[in-house]
Amino acid sequence: MEGPLQSLDQWDDFVQSRYDANRKEEEFRQHTAEAPPVVREFYRLNHAHQTRDFVQQKRRAYLSLDKRRMGIWEAMEYLNTLVDDSDPDTDLTQIEHLMQTAEAIRRDGHPRWMVLTGLIHDLGKVLCLWGEPQWAVVGDTFPVGCAWSDKIVYPEYFSANPDASVPAYQTRLGVYEEGCGLDNVVTSWGHDEYMYHVVKNYLPMPGLYMIRYHSFYPWHQEGAYSYFMDAQDREMLPWVQKFNPYDLYSKSAERPNLEQIRPYYEQLIAEFFPAELRW
Ligand SMILES: [Fe+2]
Repeated sequence: MEGPLQSLDQWDDFVQSRYDANRKEEEFRQHTAEAPPVVREFYRLNHAHQTRDFVQQKRRAYLSLDKRRMGIWEAMEYLNTLVDDSDPDTDLTQIEHLMQTAEAIRRDGHPRWMVLTGLIHDLGKVLCLWGEPQWAVVGDTFPVGCAWSDKIVYPEYFSANPDASVPAYQTRLGVYEEGCGLDNVVTSWGHDEYMYHVVKNYLPMPGLYMIRYHSFYPWHQEGAYSYFMDAQDREMLPWVQKFNPYDLYSKSAERPNLEQIRPYYEQLIAEFFPAELRW
């Protein structure tokens, strides 16, 4: 797996620590300075290389969805083949992570589509298995083609991004219009946008927003880019925020009992998805 992180979980862990409810506001800067060097290196690469051209190129390469045909469960097992340096004895597999998120949503009595959303929201990480570097799969997302918000973590790393010298991309609105709606705003490339396109015909709109924007921390946690929102985005933002704690905090060391819960999830998947999806 190409990139500085020992495992993709290192990025998730860093985001979780940033939004720890016990963290004081003034500790934020200090905290980002204390992130492991590999995490900082990961963001440096992400911010330097996620240009508008790069994103358009990846959208052309992947959004035709002609890589592969897989059912949801098959995709989960495929993602599980992702080998990183995490310790197989103590760290949970990708399937176990997904199950924990879904089970936490289920335990709290949320609708079935939201449980399913929790289960599948990270399956776009299969991009790693197709040779994409870590910085093009995970990481906080942000719009490209307009000025970078200083609410994006490590904004100083954007100085190395070639878009910094494109004046049209450096204004508040850039290539977009006020209130144009997030659907019309191109965000940095990663597992969120990709997965949204794989499932967009099958889930209710709040679930689709949760999948598409769960890593868009500058928007859903920091309030940045609100000037791009339309009425639908404003209506959906609370759902994305409702989903976030399950993404951040539902992971624990406790292994879910896969054999016991698998029949429930197979039925849930069949309720919303065809046997095969285009990836
Ligand atoms: Fe994710």
